[in-house]
Amino acid sequence: MDSHRIEKILLTGGAGFIGSQVARAYLQAGHEVIVVDDFSQGKRERLPAGVRVYKANICDQDRLDDIFSREYPSIVNHHAALVSVRESCEQPELYWQVNLQGTVNVLETASTAGVRKLIYASSGGAIYGEAEVLPIPENASANPISPYGESKLAAEKMLWRRDGNLETVVLRYGNVYGPGQDALQNNGVIAIFSHTLLHGKQPLIFGDGSQTRDFVHVRDVVDANLAASKPGVEGIYNIGTGKGRSLLDVYLKIARNLKVATLPLFLPHNNFEVEHNVLDVQRARERLGWKPCIPFHMGLWETVQIIVSNHYQKYASV
Ligand SMILES: NC(=O)c1ccc[n+]([C@@H]2O[C@H](COP(=O)([O-])OP(=O)(O)OC[C@H]3O[C@@H](n4cnc5c(N)ncnc54)[C@H](O)[C@@H]3O)[C@@H](O)[C@H]2O)c1
Repeated sequence: MDSHRIEKILLTGGAGFIGSQVARAYLQAGHEVIVVDDFSQGKRERLPAGVRVYKANICDQDRLDDIFSREYPSIVNHHAALVSVRESCEQPELYWQVNLQGTVNVLETASTAGVRKLIYASSGGAIYGEAEVLPIPENASANPISPYGESKLAAEKMLWRRDGNLETVVLRYGNVYGPGQDALQNNGVIAIFSHTLLHGKQPLIFGDGSQTRDFVHVRDVVDANLAASKPGVEGIYNIGTGKGRSLLDVYLKIARNLKVATLPLFLPHNNFEVEHNVLDVQRARERLGWKPCIPFHMGLWETVQIIVSNHYQKYASV
């Protein structure tokens, strides 16, 4: 970001796993940060000191209008969403409401309030569906196979339909992992595997574990948000690593880290998760000047160590 330009940034979903770390990075870069979150999944303890917080639901347009007319942000960074692929199959209407209608509300309010730039956290893991080419470039056809992926893609499309001069950046993340992810919210396979093993249980793998994912560290994702916030940056960018890792391989690395020999429980493949997802990140390298910097083995080791330490702290205090 232009180091001389201090922005007023309104961050939806800022109490979430990724949003809270983006909020912290913005503050550290000297920006003013306003968080809008309904705390349905977010946690107050994740919020860094120094942000101004509004507890609000993005489905409530009047409330958004009220917040925007008090704050007049220059940038909106939109991370609020419901994020569970499995839950989206059980409650598709809810996902459409929050992820699509909520995004339309944020977009309309931002346009009316004279916001300069909108950054949207999309999902490179969920919108492409089963890809014909790996790694997947941004111009590949998008055929999501879950209501979650459909709602994220539909929201993206609405961003390009608006009138006016709102600079728009869509960041399509791979599987984001790292410190702060909450296994109890049933998202993030690394957190779930670690947590389950620490509780002496057998983690579940749907299928034979050969399905591949592009695991990108949350600090790399934060850096992509900083790059996307620079004046003049627009467009769609995959944010991953360009490398696929099988779930079984990731599982075995975690088990080795935890020094356990438990085998996962293999269940039948489910039809709302793709077999292979690896993102081509060349465009982000060239146009954002961004690249993933955290090697997977280091990011994984750090993440597992933090989960272990939180686990033992929790039980020591009981
Ligand atoms: N974690 C990943 O691997 C991943 C991958 C691709 C894209 N994304 C996208 O990144 C964003 C953040 O994901 P995350 O993993 O940090 O999830 P998260 O659940 O930790 O964060 C989402 C935040 O949005 C808030 N929220 C949900 N519904 C809301 C509503 N109606 N009004 C206001 N706030 C609401 C939640 O309370 C939470 O704080 C989401 O848009 C998600 O689709 C995440």
